[in-house]
Amino acid sequence: MKEWGSFDEITKGKGVWLIDSKGNKMIDAVASMWCNVWGHSNPQLITAIIEQSKKLQHSSLFNLTNEPAEKLANTLVKISPKMYKVFYSDNGSSAMEIAIKMALQYWKNIGNDKKTEIATLENGYHGDTFGAMSVGYVPEFFGKFKRQLFSTIQFPVPNKYRIPNGFTFTDYQNHCLEKIESRFSKNSNIAAFVMESGAQVAGGVIIYPKRFQFKISQLCKKYDVLFVLDEIATGFGRLGSMTQYEEQKSIPDIVAYGKMLTGGYLTMAATLANKKIYDSFLGEFNEWTHLFHGHTYTGNPIAAAVANENLNMYKKNNLIKKIQKTSKVFDEFYDELSEIDIVGDIRHKGMIMGIELVKNKKKKVPINPQKSINKIFFEEGKKQGIYLRTLGNIVMLVPPLAITEKELSSLLQKTIKTIQSVKSKVV
Ligand SMILES: Cc1ncc(COP(=O)(O)O)c(C=O)c1O
Repeated sequence: MKEWGSFDEITKGKGVWLIDSKGNKMIDAVASMWCNVWGHSNPQLITAIIEQSKKLQHSSLFNLTNEPAEKLANTLVKISPKMYKVFYSDNGSSAMEIAIKMALQYWKNIGNDKKTEIATLENGYHGDTFGAMSVGYVPEFFGKFKRQLFSTIQFPVPNKYRIPNGFTFTDYQNHCLEKIESRFSKNSNIAAFVMESGAQVAGGVIIYPKRFQFKISQLCKKYDVLFVLDEIATGFGRLGSMTQYEEQKSIPDIVAYGKMLTGGYLTMAATLANKKIYDSFLGEFNEWTHLFHGHTYTGNPIAAAVANENLNMYKKNNLIKKIQKTSKVFDEFYDELSEIDIVGDIRHKGMIMGIELVKNKKKKVPINPQKSINKIFFEEGKKQGIYLRTLGNIVMLVPPLAITEKELSSLLQKTIKTIQSVKSKVV
């Protein structure tokens, strides 16, 4: 990372704005890594943190419990159809490690030693720890650790913009689903299918076609494979609904939440399981069916208190409805964006947009991978007053969920100016 030299120091945040030590203001176009909901310095969330800190800053969930964590668990179960219990952790990668361990141990707990394999989608992302890397293999990110990762069975995912030759989009979706069914029908050792819910985000904002996720969930049921969903980036309104799995009509056995859970204020994640999974861990002590997993800050009361206030505010402000309305602003900029000669594809749902940049629209050749695209966009974005991050050749717009229509419109105008300005530098 030699190219970066030193980083700008952010000293303040106010609403959707980040302010650096020199007083420069940037719209936080990545919601501080996709977690910010209400903008920065929200008084209600700050009060929740202060009030809880005065009462109890931390107490372990080993043998004990605390009121904010209990309250939050009840709310999470209420908003998550068919989920029964909550297991806390402090980041999304850990929440996924826990989901994988729960899924694998479930089969052992019920006396099935054969189901040990995990199926996933190509190009998925579930975090940077070893288990999460194994189930979410993105070659550019994890190639150097390939030998240390456990093997998984990977299936292709339909990306409308890049369909293999000889297929229509519908044919290709069917082809992907047939591959899953064919493998499931021949291999009874698959413990679980793990996938992001609604869309692959870090993999390039690949929004699944309608019913794709639903059909995978049906195949899991048919072949007795646990269905594990990662809603860390896509739940809590990011794609326009509270839980994506409800919108996709695909009930999981285990689901993980993170990022927006505390509104972007403190680090907390949760793995929820249905009753079938939970009950399998309830054996007698000497049966060793309990889950050996726990982190120091599991169920931290301050994080739980701010998460409770955050969820309270979702309800009070009808945030999901608001997102559905505000996100229409993205559509107003489709034409202008797609006319730019390096914009190949635009993918949008709810409060996320991925703009794929190519040097040749017809041949869909990505812009120059040898250039530090991220840095070029960051520097130009800063001049335009936005904090932008790209993922490979994709410009990501993932703003705070409560951004106003006016602010979102300004963000899109600035993004268009940024892409126009760097065109010649990135092809
Ligand atoms: C879908 C998904 N799962 C898991 C994670 C990992 O979360 P964390 O960075 O909190 O470990 C991420 C992070 O971007 C993600 O996008």
